[in-house]
Amino acid sequence: MKDLYNEAKSVLQNSYSEYSKFKVAAALRMKDGTVITGVNVENASFGLTNCAERTALFTAYTKGYRKSDILELLITTEQEQFISPCGACRQVIRELMEDDAPVHMTNNVGEVHTVKNKELLPFAFTEKDL
Ligand code: THU
Repeated sequence: MKDLYNEAKSVLQNSYSEYSKFKVAAALRMKDGTVITGVNVENASFGLTNCAERTALFTAYTKGYRKSDILELLITTEQEQFISPCGACRQVIRELMEDDAPVHMTNNVGEVHTVKNKELLPFAFTEKDL
């Protein structure tokens, strides 16, 4: 876990958060051991911001990984409180990771609060609702 936290920390300063000044980093561990990181990337048109979790997940999918390949997701910030994924990210995490996959919410000293993906978004909208 500490190694995954350190991977996220290593890209945290790459966060492009000119407007909120709120840096977020995510690190995904694949079952093959590969780690894929992501940061939040903001825009002057605020709604176009991409959160760190989605940056990491979309990069993983771009590389050809799929939900069954992903072991766990870790998120961190510079804050003392644990970072909690936003609603949009919960929806994306729900679809792109397995229901029981661990999501690790951490703080700036590496303390960890872990939940299962499916616990993040009860009553999620899924492909079954289409
Ligand atoms: N943010 C993330 O990257 N992930 C989250 O789960 C919460 C919010 C970003 C979006 C925006 O760039 C900044 O944090 C403040 O909302």
